[in-house]
Amino acid sequence: MQLKNPRLPRRGFFIYVVMPDLVGHLLFKACGPPKNFCIFVLMKTAKKFFSLEGIDGSGKSTQIDMLVRVLESEGHKVVRLREPGGAKISERIRELLLDPAFKGIMADDTELLLYNAARAQVIHEIIQPALDAGNIVIADRFAWSTFAYQGYARGLGADKVQRLTELTCGGCFPELTVVLDLTVESSRKRMAIRGGAPDRLESEKAEFFERVREGYLAAGRDYSNCVSVVNADRTPDEVHQDVLSLIKAKLK
Ligand code: TMP
Repeated sequence: MQLKNPRLPRRGFFIYVVMPDLVGHLLFKACGPPKNFCIFVLMKTAKKFFSLEGIDGSGKSTQIDMLVRVLESEGHKVVRLREPGGAKISERIRELLLDPAFKGIMADDTELLLYNAARAQVIHEIIQPALDAGNIVIADRFAWSTFAYQGYARGLGADKVQRLTELTCGGCFPELTVVLDLTVESSRKRMAIRGGAPDRLESEKAEFFERVREGYLAAGRDYSNCVSVVNADRTPDEVHQDVLSLIKAKLK
């Protein structure tokens, strides 16, 4: 499945500007994205806001645990959350989204809107206040999940995802997202070891996750100013060294 316009602006070529009223898109030449912007919908990025992404079993929780431990030991105040979730309303929306009873029933657009609704709430209640207070925020998944899962894997396309992301996030977009890259085969092996009944998303076929992975790799390739991909098929300590140095470079 292809994105509707998979070749969105690349660094050094075009910047794709979504008008504030979402009425029209203006494409113009530029020499690269301005600092503090990610050219995914020309999102203004927020300092000290980071997210970790990856398919199931890529080790996001372990890496966030390790990262938070180091940052806190160095005196940083860190707010950690997962998406969808993090706030009471967002957690309720998560239950709807992941409920296997809605497999084959929930429309793709409903799914897209619910992920964004959960995000709007957690931004309002948790993320923006934490950033305003000068804290570091680390999210286990954020808008790049929507790009990879709904935009790429569901095939809803970049336009739709981008317009909603602009509406949902405004200037509250991670300055850096680290994608923990893992093959679908390794992911499946790790998930089998973990056990438990799969949720609605986890029960998708392997091809779906191949497309999700493609979406993440495309994000790292095309939006390298705010997305970095690291190889997650290594020991947790090895992956941690890479994740930590990427985050620390942004905190300087
Ligand atoms: P997890 O928190 O256990 O990873 O579960 C969240 C699931 O939701 C996971 O399968 C990825 C999926 N997801 C999307 O499809 N789109 C999104 O925007 C987000 C945040 C998650």
